[in-house]
Amino acid sequence: MKFNENFLKIESSYLFLNIAKKVEAYSKANPDKEIIRLGIGDVTRPLAPACIDAMHKAVDEMSKAETFRGYPPAFGYDFLLDAINENDYKAHGVELDNSEIFVSDGAKSDTGNIGDIFSLDNKVAICDPVYPVYVDTNVMSGRSGEKDADGKWSNIYYMTCLAENNFLPELPKEKVDLIYLCFPNNPTGMAITKDELKKWVDYANENGSVILYDAAYEAFITEDNVPHTIYEIEGAKTCAIEFKSFSKTAGFTGVRCGYTVVPHELKVDGVELNSMWARRQATKFNGVSYVTQRAAEAVYSEQGKKEIREIIAYYQKNAKIIYDGLKACGLEVYGAVNSPYVWLKTPDNMGSWDFFDLLLNELQVVGTPGEGFGPAGEGYFRLTAFGTTENTEKAVERIRKYFAK
Ligand code: MLT
Repeated sequence: MKFNENFLKIESSYLFLNIAKKVEAYSKANPDKEIIRLGIGDVTRPLAPACIDAMHKAVDEMSKAETFRGYPPAFGYDFLLDAINENDYKAHGVELDNSEIFVSDGAKSDTGNIGDIFSLDNKVAICDPVYPVYVDTNVMSGRSGEKDADGKWSNIYYMTCLAENNFLPELPKEKVDLIYLCFPNNPTGMAITKDELKKWVDYANENGSVILYDAAYEAFITEDNVPHTIYEIEGAKTCAIEFKSFSKTAGFTGVRCGYTVVPHELKVDGVELNSMWARRQATKFNGVSYVTQRAAEAVYSEQGKKEIREIIAYYQKNAKIIYDGLKACGLEVYGAVNSPYVWLKTPDNMGSWDFFDLLLNELQVVGTPGEGFGPAGEGYFRLTAFGTTENTEKAVERIRKYFAK
């Protein structure tokens, strides 16, 4: 009997679980201290009333034999596929067939599972820093090689994103097969323009690479030249898979719903990746509950859109409070404009975990150390705008006072 030894290569626990454990230990030792959590990107506003109403109605339907539903369609109910297609694609000038959209329980699962349909021989390119799921799932499946002394995996191509390049990756200097891109970016909060993204689409089409495009933070885009979907870029349908989520858009982190788009035009060796993903999902996943899909559909109703715009605006205001507040203390800050994340350079070249400890122990503010997102995150730190405005203001004030000393 052998287990998958690749699992031993990664940290025993996920970044955000490690942070939660540290915070819990601190909280136990200091029960009188008020901790403000701006670490994990988890939302705090309640669901939009339109979603709640839709869920109540759906629950009632489930209570009667005539309207009860069993297994959902494997890739999503038509009512939700239609709403996604109309609002997230047609509205941006993109034509998709509903069979190109796969409703799921979220972008974390899908970005983690997508590797199933690709050969282990593929060369993977990731940004550094990066959302840890892309790296860890490739390590788990045996695609990463071994970890070097500098914390990098031997078979992974790293695209370093630092202030010097405005946190935008540069096109790979060698041929890579799978390219993970996340825009607006987690963790740096930076966005990509349509012109910049076009370079990636062209690279992928020229090299037969596939872009795995995580657009989970799309709802936070404020600038016109930033694409809401990669398919706004000409040529993307032959080289890109897109992941979207209701988690950050509509506060579904606890409800769980997202979707993945695999265009029929995207083929490898003449085989449609759409049918590969359909096969993967139908085999290993049983669909999203009816109640949840009705809630997701309500996100696109007139009332839902209005309510969700208000919730996003609430978080955007928090992002600005953090960004402006830290900047005013002389800190170097990035992100926030098209994102709920603020990425900052630690003062005096402090290590990012040291800065984490300082903020937790001295100010009782929790953030995420940049190093947790990859070697190039060392010396950086992430704060999220997903707290309450009251707590966000308090946290910024604590930081301001400390650094004004
Ligand atoms: C984060 O804090 O980076 C996110 O919450 C992670 C996620 O969406 O899974």
